[in-house]
Amino acid sequence: MKDISFSRRAVMLGAAALPLARRAAAQSGTKPLVISSGNGVAACAKAMELIHAGEDTLDAVIAGVNIVELDPNDHSVGYGGLPNEDGVVELDASCMHGPTRRAGAVGALRGIKTPSKVAKAVMEQTAHMFLVADGALRFAKALGFQEENLLTEQSRQAWLVWKRSLRDSNGRNNWVPGIDAPPAKKTGALDLEQLKREFPGAGEKWLAQCVDFAVHPPHGTINCIALNQKGEMSAVTTTSGMAWKIPGRVGDSPIIGGGLWLDQDVGAAGSTGLGEENLRVCGAHTCVENMRHGMSAKDAALDTLKRVARNFDNDMERLKQVDLQFYVMSKDGDYCGASLWDRTRPGGPVTQFAVCNGTGQSHRQDAVFLLERRS
Ligand code: GLY
Repeated sequence: MKDISFSRRAVMLGAAALPLARRAAAQSGTKPLVISSGNGVAACAKAMELIHAGEDTLDAVIAGVNIVELDPNDHSVGYGGLPNEDGVVELDASCMHGPTRRAGAVGALRGIKTPSKVAKAVMEQTAHMFLVADGALRFAKALGFQEENLLTEQSRQAWLVWKRSLRDSNGRNNWVPGIDAPPAKKTGALDLEQLKREFPGAGEKWLAQCVDFAVHPPHGTINCIALNQKGEMSAVTTTSGMAWKIPGRVGDSPIIGGGLWLDQDVGAAGSTGLGEENLRVCGAHTCVENMRHGMSAKDAALDTLKRVARNFDNDMERLKQVDLQFYVMSKDGDYCGASLWDRTRPGGPVTQFAVCNGTGQSHRQDAVFLLERRS
């Protein structure tokens, strides 16, 4: 009896703390909603389809991101992800289930195309929360996951182009022809014409992309967050991490509170971009705690990004090298995608995120941003 009256009082106090508009939205019933990073239009649509079919929100978001994990043409996640400096693809993933308040994660997992499913298995089938490297692979194989080579031909080519870009102080590199070889038409670490001769089947567009990957190592990821009609939430983040990383490097994606956080009483957040800088502000947790203290999803994310800028003393020259986004959703359906910069590079497209609100098509929307790049 005592417990019941305490919990009723706590609920009333919680409701009193909610701003009026948001309380009204919560009372009028919840509209299903799925958001994701910009590479997740299909993931949001799939998750929404499963939510409408009555599936659990965690199954829905994981089925959504599986599309991207299995896509060999997404070079930031799962199969076809860009490898570590040894040419081996290493994957990180985490998931959180709102209704049961549980979480699971894997880090530096090799050979399994769908690390998000392994993270869910860690959550559901072990007394642990986070398995890494060989232990995570052995666990996955014990459950029947198939071990496969995740390096596609394209990812291998991108890795070789990156190796050619590396030089010692004398401009030497053992992965290019030696000093007695016939001279190339042009010199330089990454000459597109030379690369076209070395990779005759690769195609000029892809080789130009490989050069860009070598010069600007990407650290893309997919985060996906869902809310169903009952107000239940789940979230997942999955990635191949930073391209050309030191083997064993784990980013923010599998860190509960860093690349992903969900509190069923408040909302959820996830991140893509440079994991090291997200971890310095414990970003996903910070976004959700900001909402707990009354901020909108947008303000919660922008405040977290301000903390990242503060870590660089707002020095724009150093901040220019940081690419970081948050995806934030409150339990009552307030949401945003927010980016440190308006675009990844000067002249590039505005950063977007994916949304499916259940009535319309899954689509991309412009993210809000903290800083504007000058061209
Ligand atoms: N956010 C992905 C990573 O840094 O690994």
